[in-house]
Amino acid sequence: MKNLGTDDFRIYLCDAIDMLSSLDDGSIDLIFADPPYNIGKNFGKCKDKWNNEEEYIKWCYNWLDICIKKLKNDGSIYVMASTQAMPYFDIHMRKSMYVMGRIIWNYDSSGVQAQNYFGSMYEPILFCVKDKHNYTFNSQDILVEAKTGAKRKLIDYRKNPPQPYNSEKVPGNVWHFPRVRYRMEEYEKHPTQKPVALLERIIKASSNKGDTVADPFGGTFTTAYVAKQLGRKVISCDIEKEYIKIGLRRLKLATEFEGTRLKPVNKCYKKNIEQKESLPLFPKL
Ligand SMILES: C[S@@+](CC[C@H](N)C(=O)[O-])C[C@H]1O[C@@H](n2cnc3c(N)ncnc32)[C@H](O)[C@@H]1O
Repeated sequence: MKNLGTDDFRIYLCDAIDMLSSLDDGSIDLIFADPPYNIGKNFGKCKDKWNNEEEYIKWCYNWLDICIKKLKNDGSIYVMASTQAMPYFDIHMRKSMYVMGRIIWNYDSSGVQAQNYFGSMYEPILFCVKDKHNYTFNSQDILVEAKTGAKRKLIDYRKNPPQPYNSEKVPGNVWHFPRVRYRMEEYEKHPTQKPVALLERIIKASSNKGDTVADPFGGTFTTAYVAKQLGRKVISCDIEKEYIKIGLRRLKLATEFEGTRLKPVNKCYKKNIEQKESLPLFPKL
């Protein structure tokens, strides 16, 4: 396996299981795993559909168990899955890890408006640690605005002496972040890109500067990108070459790959905006 990045930011074009197996046991501080969901998304050459659910879950248990082995004793893992697969993940992880959180990533709207059932507006994230008495959780680095008492300038009379309500709090387990859309600056050509804001919260909460973060299903390499911005080391891979190119460019690790220049997505709406802007507001008659 060839490292296409640097010593601190390791990027591999390979299978997740090969990459994970190559790591030293007990060497990783934080793992974020966002695997294919077995729902038929188009990830280029790699399929996102197994013959049956049993085969898919068996594959997932395999890489999940390797992830657990590679985590440090005070390490954490966040795993995403489809709503239908998450119960399997949850039950499996509980056998050897402590589930510290069942997070709901809630987004604004489902792509297609469901008519005959309740549209899907969330994806679950499982947050597990090896040792519930010894793990990183930087609560002060991820505070959000407290929208209740403090906003209404209420006084908390349960405290002695009474005090104004805190204006900030540690987020709960329902997270509202918009999905990455075409017009957003961070958009890359990938069907299931995760938002920078989501990874920022996870990495800030569950790792420290200089720690090593691993992501076996890089995709657009959001985890690696955010980890680098936050001063963490990274190990990540994807099986699809087009996504490796995105990762190398996003992390500024290369300007070309196999002789081709790495270019960002050429967004057609930018041209339209430029054209419109050049039109006079009140055209001369
Ligand atoms: C849900 S996406 C990850 C998206 C990523 N979190 C992001 O923010 O862009 C899953 C990724 O896993 C990759 N993949 C699928 N099977 C793989 C395998 N066996 N080994 C490594 N990567 C794989 C796919 O190419 C796809 O990019």
